[in-house]
Amino acid sequence: MIVVLLGPPGAGKGTQGERIAAHLGVPKIATGDVLRAAVKAGTELGLEAKGFMDRGDLVPDAVILGIIKDALAQPAQAKGVILDGVVRTVPQAEGLAAVARELGKKVDVVLAFDIADDALIARLSGRTMCDVCQTPYTGKNRGEKCAKNDGGTLVRRRDDEPDAIRTRLKAYREQTAPVLDWYVAKGAQVAHLDAVGSVDDVLKRALTAVGR
Ligand code: AP5
Repeated sequence: MIVVLLGPPGAGKGTQGERIAAHLGVPKIATGDVLRAAVKAGTELGLEAKGFMDRGDLVPDAVILGIIKDALAQPAQAKGVILDGVVRTVPQAEGLAAVARELGKKVDVVLAFDIADDALIARLSGRTMCDVCQTPYTGKNRGEKCAKNDGGTLVRRRDDEPDAIRTRLKAYREQTAPVLDWYVAKGAQVAHLDAVGSVDDVLKRALTAVGR
């Protein structure tokens, strides 16, 4: 089963993606995590992506399509995969559809996270993240240790500063929101998810939406 998580920055895609993946017993891929790991490692991919990410702009489609192709070809994903923030433009959606087709698969469900801007801004302004496993936290300060005991320390993301949040919201409205219309036009199963409420309540809605 391929599940695409679509939603604005801070909607809870990472938080729910990890839980949905654990529930279904499939891996989760988040292009944001892949890119941040590349930035941290100083690879060619990371050097190319860093400026776009720090500003809150989208990384070019050609870069993302390379990640999608590599990721979907991994044997670990035979049973399915949760794609968190992987598709943010119509060309990326077209590219994902083509790669999936080559592998005899298709996108089964698109989960669209619905949440108002003021709630997103509040979430992002209070977020910290583990610098090892990238788990997001609320109500914890930078410098604290990650609850997963992986040696990680909590940091603030550069793109959670106000200017970058504004740019990311603009990119979502202008470039990513049309992807939902594209999926609807293609006849995909698009389920809207009320992303406000406790993490457990949102997870229950998400699992219902994917038929579990
Ligand atoms: P990415 O890391 O994917 O950022 P994003 O899409 O902006 O999403 P976030 O990670 O900020 O938020 P989220 O929805 O995962 O929410 P989270 O669960 O953390 O991408 C970063 C950058 O990489 C992009 O800006 C772009 O430059 C580049 N990029 C990545 N993919 C790309 C692509 N395909 N094409 C082009 N460029 C790409 O939750 C947020 C906070 O809220 C946390 O603190 C969390 O604890 C809290 N929270 C979660 N759920 C709840 C709840 N129910 N109630 C209260 N608080 C909650």
